[in-house]
Amino acid sequence: MSHTDIKSLDEFKILARKKTHRVLFNYFSTGAGDDQTLEDSKAAFKRFRLKPRIFRSDPNPDLGVSIQGHPIRVPFGIAPTAIQASAHPDGESATAKAAEGFGTIMILSSVSQTTIEDVRKSAPNAHLWMQTYVFKDRRNTIDIVRRAEKEGFEAIVVTVDSPVMGRFSQIRVKYEEFKEDESEEQEKQNIPMKSLVNVRGCPSDIERAKAAGDVNITQYVRNQIGESYPKWEDLASLRKLTNLPIILKGIISAESAREAVAAGVQGIIVSAHGGRQLDGVQAPIEALPEIVDALTGSNVEVYLDGGVRSGRDVFKALAIGAKAVFIGRPIIWGLICDGTSGVKQVLQHVEDELVNTMSLCGCNRVAEITPSLVMHESQVLSKL
Ligand SMILES: Cc1cc2nc3c(=O)[nH]c(=O)nc-3n(C[C@H](O)[C@H](O)[C@H](O)COP(=O)(O)O)c2cc1C
Repeated sequence: MSHTDIKSLDEFKILARKKTHRVLFNYFSTGAGDDQTLEDSKAAFKRFRLKPRIFRSDPNPDLGVSIQGHPIRVPFGIAPTAIQASAHPDGESATAKAAEGFGTIMILSSVSQTTIEDVRKSAPNAHLWMQTYVFKDRRNTIDIVRRAEKEGFEAIVVTVDSPVMGRFSQIRVKYEEFKEDESEEQEKQNIPMKSLVNVRGCPSDIERAKAAGDVNITQYVRNQIGESYPKWEDLASLRKLTNLPIILKGIISAESAREAVAAGVQGIIVSAHGGRQLDGVQAPIEALPEIVDALTGSNVEVYLDGGVRSGRDVFKALAIGAKAVFIGRPIIWGLICDGTSGVKQVLQHVEDELVNTMSLCGCNRVAEITPSLVMHESQVLSKL
């Protein structure tokens, strides 16, 4: 399959569904609760309409941006997603190679199955950011930050929307899936699961968990995330721990965004965790305008993830004021389909659509993608 043959990223999803274990496909694709935020995050992009300018476009628009002081070839990157070695044997290394070849940022999840050190080895020149939680035992967080620093990662992304776990729907979906053949146990045994190798700041606890049968430490990590209850004081400690830029991921309100600025972070990712934490959260693209407004005049860079499924979606987020956007599930679909090459095809598809949208809207550089080129449908209706 080549990216030129596909019309939308959903086609990668359809192919991925055929290629992967259904329990894993459910894990990757579903959201929390009733999937309201999952679905709305995508639908909300369609509520913004484009208002192109004419007689402005030149060939080959320049997509380059500066993100945290680094020149990046395109204004979109790869969001952190867990257990990529369950999507493809080459796992996180395959994704990092794609990011390196494509010239964009990959955020490595701390819930990953390839070590920070091995990911760096497989993509020595990639722009890598390290995602972490404020784990229940803070030594796990400190260890991750130290190792990421050593391996030349360029930022620490702290996910802040998960003081407890927020997934209930997965159980429902699994139940429905297995009702037909009642072979859940049998199916589970065939899932390609590898150990979570990057949470290792408390060796004796981890050994104990393994000895008690939690061989891949999935339950240990789950508890480390789901019983963590982080506070602003933890962020202050992190701020002291590292000189790397700190990016908070999972902010959806202007109030929290202002608090983040006051706490001295360098960036925030407006995100609803792909609809996997609190269901009913506002779609990130509709939360973006008030957050951009609230941060006007600060040096904090605003990014977005959630529901980005086309180059037009990227364009809309940039027009509203995001500096860059990050893509979650479509990267996993590309990875399942064809490893590094599959991820690159997904990224290339988004780039082609973004170039096309910029040309049709009269933009030759990212800086020319401004708020006047986009309008929310509620404003359109109020003018009718
Ligand atoms: C399977 C899966 C695993 C994820 N794992 C993590 C994670 O380990 N850490 C994290 O901060 N976010 C995680 N996320 C959330 C993504 O970083 C991102 O916020 C979300 O996928 C964006 O939405 P999208 O999938 O619609 O693009 C995960 C999302 C998915 C779908």
